[in-house]
Amino acid sequence: MCGIFAYLNYRVPRTRKEIFETLVKGLQRLEYRGYDSAGIAVDGPNKTTTDNNSNTICLIKKTGKVKALDEELYKKDTLDLDEELYTHFGLAHTRWATHGEPSSLNSHPHRSDKDNEFVVIHNGIITNYKELRKYLISKGYEFESETDTEVIPKLIKYVYDNREDDSVTFSTLVERVIPQLEGAFALVVKSRHYPGEAVGTRRGSPLLIGVRSEHELSTEHIPVQYNSAHLKKGVQEKNSHNRPDCSDAINSVGDGKAVEYYFASDASAIIEHTNKVLYLEDDDVAEVTKGELSIHRMKRQAGEDPVRAIQTLQMELQQIMKGNFDAFMQKEIFEQPESVVNTMRGRISHDSNEVVLGGLKDHLKEIKRCRRLIMIGCGTSFHAAVATRQILEELTELPVMVELASDFLDRNTPVFRDDVSFFISQSGETADTLMALRYCKKHGALTVGITNTVGSTICRETDCGVHINAGPEIGVASTKAYTSQFVALIMFGLMMSEDRLSLQERRLEIINGLRVLPELIKQVLSLDSKIKAIANELYQQRSLLVMGRGFNYATCLEGALKIKEITYMHSEGILAGELKHGPLALIDMHMPVIMVIMRDACYIKCQNALQQVTARSGRPIVICCQDDAELTTNAYQTIELPHTVDCLQGILSVIPLQLLSFHLAVLRGYDVDCPRNLAKSVTVE
Ligand code: F6R
Repeated sequence: MCGIFAYLNYRVPRTRKEIFETLVKGLQRLEYRGYDSAGIAVDGPNKTTTDNNSNTICLIKKTGKVKALDEELYKKDTLDLDEELYTHFGLAHTRWATHGEPSSLNSHPHRSDKDNEFVVIHNGIITNYKELRKYLISKGYEFESETDTEVIPKLIKYVYDNREDDSVTFSTLVERVIPQLEGAFALVVKSRHYPGEAVGTRRGSPLLIGVRSEHELSTEHIPVQYNSAHLKKGVQEKNSHNRPDCSDAINSVGDGKAVEYYFASDASAIIEHTNKVLYLEDDDVAEVTKGELSIHRMKRQAGEDPVRAIQTLQMELQQIMKGNFDAFMQKEIFEQPESVVNTMRGRISHDSNEVVLGGLKDHLKEIKRCRRLIMIGCGTSFHAAVATRQILEELTELPVMVELASDFLDRNTPVFRDDVSFFISQSGETADTLMALRYCKKHGALTVGITNTVGSTICRETDCGVHINAGPEIGVASTKAYTSQFVALIMFGLMMSEDRLSLQERRLEIINGLRVLPELIKQVLSLDSKIKAIANELYQQRSLLVMGRGFNYATCLEGALKIKEITYMHSEGILAGELKHGPLALIDMHMPVIMVIMRDACYIKCQNALQQVTARSGRPIVICCQDDAELTTNAYQTIELPHTVDCLQGILSVIPLQLLSFHLAVLRGYDVDCPRNLAKSVTVE
């Protein structure tokens, strides 16, 4: 959903070539967020001075992936690659098109005018852009793209052109523009009028800042500065507030010494430079002037934290590298024996059968008293809710609703104070899920986050939660996050049922199942070559149906989603119980069908479905338990998995479908990690 990256070197000499390399590397790390086009903004040709006073800005944009932009950068013979830029601020952006087709003109950075006085990179959507555009056109501003973003640099220029005070600061201009913007945004702005200075802000879309310095950082906390008198005049005077003079409180990072700053949509683009990062909150305006970083806000809200902490990231660079794998998705599928261990680490006691999720401990009593659990997510994260619903109903003895975030909001679903609502999201930034979270909060329900991204918006806005600790997931198609969400939700059920005597035997069975799960996942992964051979038989087909029921229904939905999103084949996950109510009409000897039939309470019913398929000349490939002689006889082919506890079987049964979709996509010649039209983190509704 668009990736933002910006790099500021202050009193750290860097050649233009080094700056290009840093910007491109940042974009490559963020490319999973969108890859329709990419662009950068750097200072134009200039004399080398000690403090770079460039007054031209050069924009270079290219449709397609970051690689295409990278090649384009070196074609500009007007830019001296060896020119040393002692202090410089560069912007970079990779786009997932929302308004306007992928084209050079619609690519970011967007500019205020032909002289590039202000240039902006943006992630999110400005919902009132049409009104703003109309207003600016009436004031004589000319637009060149179809994007919503372009109103932003033009509004900043409008404020600049109408300033009353020549000493107006860069952040002041941006602070005057923010109240005019509706929707979601993370923005970084560069200006010819403020060389070597940076401004970044966010509302609803993520933005963090990495800091690298040779010297010890002078502070670990930056006090937030509130609006001062010089901000009184907004574009339409909407939301302008006097702020007390807080000059005493200023304790910015940098202190005018050599320092580098990295602005990015997520930590994966920063980690190779520094592990010191600061997460911006909604409506924070971060400014770097003379190498010093400070944070401003319009107005202090009740209960708001007046400082922003510089945190130390725990992530390692190799966690976001592909290693020996051909694609991130493949690497992430094969990481699952480890990622589920990381989800469980320190949470299941070795000697007793206690399960403790630290992030929920303080709210457990309240959760146990609730009227119902509502599990909300999108796509794969929603499927994790479907997969665990039955066992959660059994272990919590509470009604469990599973909801797609967008539909939940469309229905204005009734929510009560004694509901507990769960928000399941790998990225922690998905707009639909975030909106549903705010909706539930407004209605007084307790909110619980199940996320993979520490510091994400969903993490920060929920009352409590669980980090699934699956490690960074880069492939657009979610794999290891799904199995870790699955495990985390099961652990929640185990924690809730700790004191239920009648459930102890069942709990023990599940806990023992979890303990051996990594080993069983390894056994499933060893079937890779068999699955590749099946992919070889199927890859030219147009359609693929996946059927199952009970604990394995979610596997069918998730498998079909994986297949359609990366292979572009039509695929449908079908509840086997519904087969005779319609889908059976699709079956003949040509329609490829995969059936998931495990030894659980639905086994006999699934066998009936298998009979119905074979009786219509269908040739099902059956995912089943090892040594199931009966199924082996009736199936066209089988993929045999180790047997585990019924409610955990879905963790194993989804893996062959993850592998199958990967091999199908490779055989069909598609880029597995960057499926067309999609992006990893969907921060628009
Ligand atoms: C599918 C996939 C998507 C996401 C969905 C929610 O492979 O990745 O369906 O699951 O966009 O994203 P998160 O979990 O980040 O909220």
